[in-house]
Formats: sequence, structure tokens, C-alpha cells
Amino acid sequence: KIYSDDTSASIEVARRVAGLIKSKQANNETAVLGLATGASPVKVYKELVRLHKEEGLSFKNVVTFNLDEYYPIQPDAEQSYVRFMKEQLFDHVDIDISNVNIPDGTLKQEDIAAYCLAYEQKINNYGGIDLQVLGIGRTGHIGFNEPGSAPNSGTRLVTLNDLTRRDASKDFGGKENVPKKAITMGIGTIFKAKEIILLAWNGKKAPIIKKAVEGPISNEVPATFLQMSNNVEFIIDEDAAVEL
Ligand code: GLP
Repeated sequence: KIYSDDTSASIEVARRVAGLIKSKQANNETAVLGLATGASPVKVYKELVRLHKEEGLSFKNVVTFNLDEYYPIQPDAEQSYVRFMKEQLFDHVDIDISNVNIPDGTLKQEDIAAYCLAYEQKINNYGGIDLQVLGIGRTGHIGFNEPGSAPNSGTRLVTLNDLTRRDASKDFGGKENVPKKAITMGIGTIFKAKEIILLAWNGKKAPIIKKAVEGPISNEVPATFLQMSNNVEFIIDEDAAVEL
């Protein structure tokens, strides 16, 4: 779906998220959201905060799983995704913080594999993710599933691609400060979501959007795996769509 601008598109996505939360509320059920970081979902979170403050949307029945986190990183570091999510969403709504799950960037290396299995298990225990929000990196990554990621991959420690680290360098004050690794949900984890929405705005994303939507399915561009699923929508603006 191509929108004229990212604001109207983000408002529409936020409405869909709110609709899911409310329909679950009506049945006394939990809404399980898979959430992304980066610039792409910022306006969606802003609109969700507005819906909470001005229209009484409650997040009491919401459980969230974030896609990824740098490794290593402290949760209070400026660039941590824990901090990002608090600042953009969680600090401004009535979510029970014990329902928030974000990969832990402070683990000891030897504890990561067991932690990742438990993260997958926890998602499964909730019956899976109802709605997964995704951004896309210029390498074609979703979450931090860089080129080479397998379609059935699970939550795991990965090595960040050089382009990804360059794109993150302004947040860290230089590429040398960007962590070399990250913990990410796998492509297989993402695929298990009942509904997936990928967001992309502006012309910088146009080449990778073309590859993701029209290119051959290949682990060289992990987002192309989304072509294999029926429950995926790309919600993009006109600038990200110019090469389609
Ligand atoms: C980061 C995140 C991804 C995100 C991507 C795009 O690397 N780990 O989950 O989708 O970058 O970011 P942005 O939305 O800022 O373009």
C-alpha cells in the first residue's frame, strides 16, 4: 500500500494496532505485538500515545516482544532499544512493564543461546505474535537478520553487516562505536506472526524496497523471504515506492 506521506500511513497503522488491542480487550484476551525500532515506526508510536492520552486507548492487555537489540549494550545507553521503546512508547502509556520483552544486551556470551530459546518459547506460550511491525535496513535486513540469514532462523546472536553499522554510526558518534553484534528474532520467528506490516519511508529505502518486493527470493536480501507469506503488507510512502 502506497501512501502519499508517512504521517497518514503511520496514523492508519496505529489505528490498526489500536483496533487489534480493542478487539482483544472485548474478549478479555491479550494482544501480542511484535515491535520494531528505528525511525520508521516513530510516528506510529506517537499516534498510539495520542490515542492513549486523548481517546483512552488502554495497553493493560498488551504484551510486546521487540525484534532486536544491540549486543553488548546497557539498557540505559542512549542508543539502546530499551531506552528507545521507553521514550517513544512505554513511558507514555499504561502498559504493565512486566509485559514488555526486549532482547537483553547485557547477557554473558555463554548465556545468550539459552536466553534466545526462552525468548522464542515465551512468544509461543502467548500463542504467537498477533501483529508484527517491521522496518527494513538498507542491506535488506528485517530485525537484524542480515544477508545470509536462513528463512527458518530463530532468535539468536548475529554479526552486523558493515552497511548497517555505517547507517548506525551517527547514533553512536562513529562506526567504531557501533556494537559489532546484536540479538534478533529470526526470520522464522517473524514468519510465525499472524500478521506482518513492514514500514518504509523516503527515497533512501527505494532501492531495497524494489529488491524486497520484486527481486528474486534469496538470503542475500532477507526481506525477500516475506514474498513467501500471505499475511504480509508493505506500507510505504511514495518516495520509497519510486522504483517499483
Ligand atoms: C535497524 C533496526 C531494524 C530497523 C532498521 C531500519 O537496524 N534494527 O529493526 O528496521 O534499522 O531503521 P530505520 O527505520 O531507522 O530506517
